[in-house]
Amino acid sequence: MCGIVGYVGYRHVLPILLDGLRRLEYRGYDSAGVAWLQDGSLHRVRCEGKLDNLARLLNGLQDVPSSIGIGHTRWATHGEPSEANAHPHTDCTGSLVVVHNGIIENCYSLRRQLQREGHIFKSETDTEVLAHLIERYMDGDLVQAVRDALMEVEGSFALGVLWQQDPDILVAARRQSPLVLGSTEDEGFLASDIPALLPYTRDVVFLDDGEMAVLSRDRIEISRIDSGRTIIKGPQTISWDASMAEKAGYRHFMLKEIYEQPQAVLNTYRGRIVPDIGEVSLAEVEIGLSPQVIRGLKRIVLLACGTSWHAGLVARYWIERWVGLPVEVDLASEFRYRHLLVDKTVLTIPISQSGETADTLAGLRKAKELASPVISICNVVGSTITRESDGTIYTHAGPEIGVASTKAFTSQMAALYVLALYLGQIRGRLSRTDLRGKLSALVDVPEMLENGLESWHERAKELADTFYTCSDFLYIGRNINFPIALEGALKLKEISYIHAEGYAAGEMKHGPIALIDRDMPVVAIVPQDHVYEKMLSNVEEVRTRRGIVIALGIDGDRGLARVAQHVISVPQPRDPDVNPFLYTVPLQLLAYEIALAKGCDVDQPRNLAKSVTVE
Ligand code: G6P
Repeated sequence: MCGIVGYVGYRHVLPILLDGLRRLEYRGYDSAGVAWLQDGSLHRVRCEGKLDNLARLLNGLQDVPSSIGIGHTRWATHGEPSEANAHPHTDCTGSLVVVHNGIIENCYSLRRQLQREGHIFKSETDTEVLAHLIERYMDGDLVQAVRDALMEVEGSFALGVLWQQDPDILVAARRQSPLVLGSTEDEGFLASDIPALLPYTRDVVFLDDGEMAVLSRDRIEISRIDSGRTIIKGPQTISWDASMAEKAGYRHFMLKEIYEQPQAVLNTYRGRIVPDIGEVSLAEVEIGLSPQVIRGLKRIVLLACGTSWHAGLVARYWIERWVGLPVEVDLASEFRYRHLLVDKTVLTIPISQSGETADTLAGLRKAKELASPVISICNVVGSTITRESDGTIYTHAGPEIGVASTKAFTSQMAALYVLALYLGQIRGRLSRTDLRGKLSALVDVPEMLENGLESWHERAKELADTFYTCSDFLYIGRNINFPIALEGALKLKEISYIHAEGYAAGEMKHGPIALIDRDMPVVAIVPQDHVYEKMLSNVEEVRTRRGIVIALGIDGDRGLARVAQHVISVPQPRDPDVNPFLYTVPLQLLAYEIALAKGCDVDQPRNLAKSVTVE
């Protein structure tokens, strides 16, 4: 939530800041601002609304002679979106500016103290407290003043600070909110996330909690905030390139990312499986999770938020059957506050696209405190969750920019599918023949998705035309496709603002059936698997009550066509265990087309942010 950028170097700073903010806009987009030093004085432009508004204000200023500045795109926590609350915030003198991502939890008491000392506040934000606190400690040394100020602060922060009197440095610091630094020979960059740095450098350094950095043209110096002890860190090279974080001719990032799924799934299992032999190898988890530990496991806990939680719900069905262990799938925000019965025999698997979600990270830390081995599933190399896990299975989905998660979800499922088979293999629960069968089914998926995309897209357009004015949708599925119903409903509500509920079809009679009428479409996931007949009965029940059914089922399923008014055809895989991949994509496209028909901003839905780094 919130994106921050900073630059010090030799180029014109404003285009760099604006470009960086554009690449981080998925993190928040209710207001934005930049500040830069020019001819010895500080300049600041801020506004409410999306970055386009800021870009308009900066029009004509691209070439201002300045090569140091900071910028921010906001997702409001304290204080409504407005120009006054937009970052950067200044101290009383107006010579120091701060951009911040996170929440200062003791902001009210600090604010009162500072006001008593005579500081004048101009916004309702928690961030402004930081600017005044640094001012309080300023004695000619910016780095020391930031250090002293941060020692008083409770809560989370990733911040960038610029001071008129020290015109060649930026100071950055982090606790619990992500911050990545980059450099070239004569430039330094800071940003909330990697895409902002990709046009300039792929060598990055991740700040850890409790660290701060001083960026100048020719070096980055990192130290502990509390002790001032110097930290030496080598850069990590990121394999993504800048074009991967661009739209490549698609109308929206979300659409591009939907179409990238065959490749994302393939990239995720590639190099980890040998289908012909029936073998899975996950070298990356062996250190944190030895075969001996795997054999001694008694339970598995999957932990995540949002769409990633749905991937965990799908994986439960695979793990229970293939690994033979009880599985809990918990929302990280609930898990972290429960009385946890976790110990070293419980494997914890946090699932996170960004690797920065605050609740997932907090859950991971609690599990670790209780001695649980932790293997995460994550898309962002070097992110906090990966750094704190005993091992990580990376999804190789590439950068995901659309706020509604698509390719991250299918590649998380691919990683979990492979992990479940791996655990089953080590625990001796699966024969070579079983493994060969399951792996071959997975290998079929990218092509099946590729072949389906265009026709699902066309069908989604037709259905969107008919249904985009509906105000409620119900999604139903059973067994391994129940989480896909949840995910389908989440996609629709996230981007079209239509109320949608996902339900286990077997629960229909316990409530939702009362809602059924001609105005509420029921999206039913009806593959030919072991609960097919049960799903057909549910569809019948909807029809009998004059409900409208949009059913997803296999090509040529006449039984289904008889009971459902609308059908989306999905191919029959060789093994129903891969159905969650196949049924997800048409539902993503349906949500996308409905949102488009309603004129919604698909990539930046209201009130949402891609990376939820505050609680
Ligand atoms: C936000 C995003 C979702 C995402 C969830 C968890 O709500 O909008 O798309 O599923 O956070 O994020 P993570 O990065 O941990 O997967």
